[in-house]
Amino acid sequence: MPLVTTKEMFEKAYKGGYAVGAFNVNNMEMIQAIVEAANECKSPVILQVSAGARKYANPVYLRHLVMAAAETTDIPIAMHLDHGADFEICKSSIDDGFTSVMIDASSKPWEENIALTRKVVEYAHAHGVVVEAELGKLAGIEDDVHVEAHDAMFTSPDEVEEFTSRTGIDSLAIAIGTSHGAYKFKPGQDPKLRIDILEEIGRRLPGFPIVLHGASSVPQDQVAIVNEFGGSMPNAIGIPESELKKAAKLAVCKINIDSDLRVAFTAACRKHFCEHPDHFDPRQYLGDARANMKEMVRHKIIDVLGSAGKA
Ligand code: G3H
Ligand code: 13P
Ligand code: ZN
Repeated sequence: MPLVTTKEMFEKAYKGGYAVGAFNVNNMEMIQAIVEAANECKSPVILQVSAGARKYANPVYLRHLVMAAAETTDIPIAMHLDHGADFEICKSSIDDGFTSVMIDASSKPWEENIALTRKVVEYAHAHGVVVEAELGKLAGIEDDVHVEAHDAMFTSPDEVEEFTSRTGIDSLAIAIGTSHGAYKFKPGQDPKLRIDILEEIGRRLPGFPIVLHGASSVPQDQVAIVNEFGGSMPNAIGIPESELKKAAKLAVCKINIDSDLRVAFTAACRKHFCEHPDHFDPRQYLGDARANMKEMVRHKIIDVLGSAGKA
């Protein structure tokens, strides 16, 4: 099936009270793990590529890998640029065949965010591509930008109507308590999402798809495996999956997960190396890593996002 935009995916997700998973990809095994899981669950899926992934893998390689995934399955797959920092990266992704881009001008002043986002929307829509933009500031690390927790800013519901109507975007990423990376909160903390803000934004923008970044939950069983087999990941927790489930039932149609997949991949590699110190064929440990990542994606689709059977 050819790549699709997120338009129809989000319309169905909004009405159906579930969210579509947007998983970050950097190499073939990750793409296979995500797409195999989504295919087995009959779920739509978004494969997203960051600037770091483009630098690591070369966008042409990633495009062909994603196209291969689409060609070998029947589920709807969108290819999305994650955290596009400027017009040029969005344009080059659109020219490269991406079906969706994010322009992340959330750290810029209001009028600049609107002007840049509008410029991307005009180019994208002229090419049949949809656009996500962001209002508010998440804590954590995005590429090379590190936002301290005290600097993070919840999205103001008062701003969303003007922002969406002046920019013409197709979906809006908001800050309601999620943050990027695998070290979000200390054990013992009780992280909660500001569901009240999400509900208010839902009232201001009826039917409009909302996006959550930084939605990894930091699976403690996988962190324990990393640390049992020679790793030293700090003790940290993420956003409880129960909170994400609540958001998925409301206006949130896209939930971004990267760190949890990285932890699953790394846990399997570390375990494999320790249990089989004689192995040197990459297919052996990458095969385990792919299988473990696939299991994580299945779990997210079935138990958190609610998108199984919605393809
Ligand atoms: O939000 C950021 C994503 O997790 C991508 O991370 O920039 O290290 O590829 P990256
Ligand atoms: P996590 O670091 O919580 O997985 O967030 C990923 C993300 O938001 C990608 O844009
Ligand atoms: Zn993000």
